[in-house]
Amino acid sequence: MANRRRAKITALGRYVPPRVVTNHDLSKMVDTNHEWIVERTGIHERHWVEKGTPTSELAVKAVDDLLKRRGIEAGQIELIIVATVTPDMFFPSTACLIQDKIRATRAWGFDISAACSSFLYALTTGAQFIESGRHTKVLVVGADVMTSILNPEDRTTLILFGDGAGAVLLEPCAEGEETYGILDYRHEIDGSGGEHLYMPGGGSLHPSSRETVEKNMHYVHQNGQAVFKYAVRKMEEMSRSMLERNNLTGADIGAFIAHQANLRIIDATANKIGLDQSKVIKNIHKYGNTTAATIPLAVGDATDDGRLKKGDLVLFAAVGAGFTAGCVLARWAY
Ligand code: UT7
Repeated sequence: MANRRRAKITALGRYVPPRVVTNHDLSKMVDTNHEWIVERTGIHERHWVEKGTPTSELAVKAVDDLLKRRGIEAGQIELIIVATVTPDMFFPSTACLIQDKIRATRAWGFDISAACSSFLYALTTGAQFIESGRHTKVLVVGADVMTSILNPEDRTTLILFGDGAGAVLLEPCAEGEETYGILDYRHEIDGSGGEHLYMPGGGSLHPSSRETVEKNMHYVHQNGQAVFKYAVRKMEEMSRSMLERNNLTGADIGAFIAHQANLRIIDATANKIGLDQSKVIKNIHKYGNTTAATIPLAVGDATDDGRLKKGDLVLFAAVGAGFTAGCVLARWAY
């Protein structure tokens, strides 16, 4: 076994479908309005797929973007980890579907199910395979077609979500780059929160049937206030402990990139851990909550506009269904 070494993100790709759905568009579908949505969530618009477009299709476009930017072939990828709560189907895994579509002939892979925290879970998992010395090119994909599981008549969930995909490449840090890459992580689950955000139908407990469909069990169900309270508390707690155990304060962080579920959750966390607003990356206004894709989409925006640069400390944080929660600290390496 080779020596342990640090994993760094060396490239990013992303894709959102072209169709933009505004709050005004939604007000024609359900009893809602632009002002309510903006005030409670910060969302102005989101991108939705054309009906029938699977998650793997978005993911492949994000991966193609990544491969082009990094200048490598799919055949060089050794492992594909896909974070998603909307796989094309239960099996084969979406990792298998992507592997075939991009012709990553040397890769193995699997899916991770951790809802809105899944991208960070996948990032941490992928980093372990680099650190162990077993792999040198690990693809981590976060992709979701949330519209495939949204109830078009439920205003409390319909307005929140969008579709999208992002992917990052993990590679080992070179010699002399010891302070770069993924520095620390912390993850938690609390299954007692399961009842607050879930999709009950279609699994082994409630296999799909006429009855499950009639009862809308194939859609997202959420107790928004319960999730909100947990998210505000947990995101602060995890971010604070990550800073403390690395002897850092909010002032040391170059970019705070949190799961984009609600502007109020992001701002509350940032304020409580003492982050300057200029360090807080937000793009929920244009994408809504794309579940596994929010963090890579936000990273893309932050690198595009120069707010995330080589050498910056970046704090990632996410909370989601499960409950699941996670935090990753990294020094940006490109
Ligand atoms: O990423 C996965 C994790 N998910 C989250 O982080 C989501 C966390 N939760 C939230 O972001 C917020 O709870 C929501 C945005 C979902 C809801 O905001 P809220 O401030 O918690 O609103 P609420 O559920 O307390 O509803 C307030 C009122 C209710 O009416 P009454 O009972 O006060 O008359 C709702 O029926 O707003 C009503 N309402 C709406 N009105 C217009 C709920 N949805 C809508 C809507 N348009 N779309």
